[in-house]
Amino acid sequence: MDQAMIEFQSVTKQYQGGNPAVDQLTMSIDKGSITVFVGPSGCGKTTSLRMINRMVEPTSGVITVDGRDVTSVPAAELRRSMGYVMQSSGLMPHRSVLDNIATVPRLNGVSKTEARKRAEELLDVVGLASALGKRYPSQLSGGQQQRVGVARALAADPPVLLMDEPFSAVDPVVRDELQQELLRLQKDLAKTIVFVTHDIDEATVLGDKVAVFAVGGKLAQYATPEEILRAPANDFVASFVGRDRGFRHLGFTASDGVAIHPVPTLVLDG
Ligand SMILES: Nc1ncnc2c1ncn2[C@@H]1O[C@H](COP(=O)(O)OP(=O)(O)OP(=O)(O)O)[C@@H](O)[C@H]1O
Ligand SMILES: [Mg+2]
Repeated sequence: MDQAMIEFQSVTKQYQGGNPAVDQLTMSIDKGSITVFVGPSGCGKTTSLRMINRMVEPTSGVITVDGRDVTSVPAAELRRSMGYVMQSSGLMPHRSVLDNIATVPRLNGVSKTEARKRAEELLDVVGLASALGKRYPSQLSGGQQQRVGVARALAADPPVLLMDEPFSAVDPVVRDELQQELLRLQKDLAKTIVFVTHDIDEATVLGDKVAVFAVGGKLAQYATPEEILRAPANDFVASFVGRDRGFRHLGFTASDGVAIHPVPTLVLDG
């Protein structure tokens, strides 16, 4: 049985005056795995992610990380204890790449020399030449900036990594590379990664498990990618996965070595 690292227990978030952005979310995220939140725009993916490190506070319900209720940890401390990568790399434009990567370790009291040394190592880990460390973010390509964002999130060696559409701003080829890099990194690091995307292909490539959200912040299905493609839980998931994608991915072999046979998915709008 996999061990839970992050648990949502009946978590609801209602922003002022609105409908619930996240509605009664209950789910358990395995330690050392990649869990992908996927769904259409506005379905509460970012809100759910940000409640894990208290960038957003739930209206009701409980979230635990490693068995501890997150509200028992001061928000600033909690944020520094988890890596966070956002869509636009979120790098500080007036600081060099190395200084950007060293930010959180410095906040945690690591000496400047140590933090820089670690930042240099991380450049290599994410596949960037050390010469890039002296540049400013604007002097990097989009893909390079995203790699720096990942390096920065890894700098304090946090057990949990939260990634909100980190690869959506780059072209498909670079995106593919970054996905493969992340999978390669994860083999060594075995972090608990929560990854948000609106792209079902990205979700099935990266996720050990995939959580499909429907508008209104409802969890529509939470299962392995194979399961979601083979047996969508309802019409919404089936149409979100899409007929083409469903068939394309059905070359998959289940983990027990049994080939999965194509099952037509229901297409609502032709
Ligand atoms: N600060 C806020 N104040 C009020 N409403 C908000 C706020 N942030 C998000 N919302 C609303 O909550 C809902 C969920 O938003 P959220 O950003 O979590 O969606 P998302 O799934 O990440 O969407 P996207 O794919 O577009 O990033 C949306 O209806 C959004 O308008
Ligand atoms: Mg979002």
